[in-house]
Amino acid sequence: MGRDARELSFRPVVDSSRLAQLPCFAELSDEQRTQASDLLEEVVVSAGAEVAVQGDFAYHFFVVEDGTAEVRENGARVAELGPGDFFGELALLRDGPRSASVVAATDLRVRVIPRQEFGRSMRRLPTLAHSVRAAAVTR
Ligand code: CMP
Repeated sequence: MGRDARELSFRPVVDSSRLAQLPCFAELSDEQRTQASDLLEEVVVSAGAEVAVQGDFAYHFFVVEDGTAEVRENGARVAELGPGDFFGELALLRDGPRSASVVAATDLRVRVIPRQEFGRSMRRLPTLAHSVRAAAVTR
């Protein structure tokens, strides 16, 4: 299985309206949502796949659109994430390795921001930045 979605196929997102259903994007204007949609690629992951691997370099930030993901720290389950939740921000904010592994507990549809776009996305999307920074404090 490809690690950190590197080997998963990306396909461009054409429908920005579904972004409105995700809390971290809900307050965006239509224009901002269109911008966000341009930044966020959609990836489908099969149940059981490791989307992020503890200790690995971080290539992406993820927002769960559908399905459930399990966060595992040193093999132990520490959290379950569902639609509207995001993960992969810690390594990017800290410029360090993945703090935990994230495994698809069910088939998973995620929106992905590549590492090199993350800072720009946070600057352009204040609602997202606020949600991400708030979560990072408690994780
Ligand atoms: P990152 O370290 O980049 O990769 C693993 C991710 O798992 C991490 O970012 C967070 O997004 C997420 N994560 C780690 N610990 C927790 C936690 N206690 N609760 C929810 N998510 C977590």
